[in-house]
Amino acid sequence: MKNIKEVKVSLGERSYPVYIGKGLLSRVGKLFNLSRRVLVLTDRGVPKEYAEAVADACREPLTVTVKDGEGSKSLATYEEILTKMLRAGFTRGDCVVAVGGGVVGDLAGFVASSYMRGIDFYNIPTTLLSAVDASVGGKVAVNLSGIKNAVGAFYQPRGVLCDPSLLSTLPARQVSAGLAEALKMAVTLDASLFSLFENGDPIEDLEQVIAACVKIKASVVEKDEREGGLRRVLNFGHTIGHGIESRAGIEERENGLYHGECVALGMLPMSSSDVRARLLKIFNKFSLPTVSPVAPDSIFEALSHDKKAEGKFINAIFVNEIGTYEEKKIMPEELLTLAREVYL
Ligand SMILES: NC(=O)c1ccc[n+]([C@@H]2O[C@H](COP(=O)([O-])OP(=O)(O)OC[C@H]3O[C@@H](n4cnc5c(N)ncnc54)[C@H](O)[C@@H]3O)[C@@H](O)[C@H]2O)c1
Repeated sequence: MKNIKEVKVSLGERSYPVYIGKGLLSRVGKLFNLSRRVLVLTDRGVPKEYAEAVADACREPLTVTVKDGEGSKSLATYEEILTKMLRAGFTRGDCVVAVGGGVVGDLAGFVASSYMRGIDFYNIPTTLLSAVDASVGGKVAVNLSGIKNAVGAFYQPRGVLCDPSLLSTLPARQVSAGLAEALKMAVTLDASLFSLFENGDPIEDLEQVIAACVKIKASVVEKDEREGGLRRVLNFGHTIGHGIESRAGIEERENGLYHGECVALGMLPMSSSDVRARLLKIFNKFSLPTVSPVAPDSIFEALSHDKKAEGKFINAIFVNEIGTYEEKKIMPEELLTLAREVYL
């Protein structure tokens, strides 16, 4: 088909295409097998026309709209959805389609991974964060007892459809938060994508940014599907970022930070001073935060809490030069020193 970029994620029998192109939503019935019962999962913040367009292309759609926000990544919501599917007579031959951001994608994927021991899953990301990162790679999960993604699976979708025109309704701040996840990949793995952030305007050509990120993510996941090594590079910015998020995340405070904004801040202490200076200029350009609202000691407390689950050292990704990275095992105390140097 014309105007479609297709990136293949090659994982043997779990391989799948990621279709990228403006206007693709109207072709969803041709790209995915929807001639069956289909659970179309979306949330209240996603324009309802998107899920309606998918439902219109299905033989037997069941649309479920959950509350928007991280709170829906819960066992209670998961159970409600499974119950609806059982009552509607879903069988192993039916499927789930996510129409939303990372919250809907993670939840829908976990539902698909476990209903009747696993049914087909398709993802239609409607946030930039999900398009560039969350929708590809098969990590699906819900939260438990305040621990993010505590219960989940590696479960690859059968296909992903990224239609950049769906992002036109996304608030600018959400676009910037998504750009932070794209920037994370550029800093560690793709110097030419970084130069688009530094010298160009990625927002003008989101399709190009999405395609570049999906290619990067596909190649990382193909080499390390279950995060035994290489895939950890995608956690750049996340170690300290998670510490900030657990104290100042949007779920914790009314005026809290989005995940991507926390990741942006988390990249700063893990970068050389040259890289940090270049990042700060880009953050200013896209109105990403440059100062942590959480004191380093409080970030450290959150990290130490995580450390109990992980053992003594933390695996952290550092960047000295754009397009390269280094993984080091360090103690949380060392991260505290770095955070103090950068944030105070
Ligand atoms: N599975 C993975 O590999 C992976 C990777 C990164 C993040 N995540 C997860 O992703 C989640 C965050 O995802 P997110 O940033 O997409 O947030 P989100 O899914 O909460 O979406 C953000 C907000 O935007 C709204 N929205 C979605 N699409 C819209 C559109 N087109 N127009 C207007 N509003 C729209 C949503 O309703 C929501 O209110 C977290 O739970 C995180 O753990 C998963």
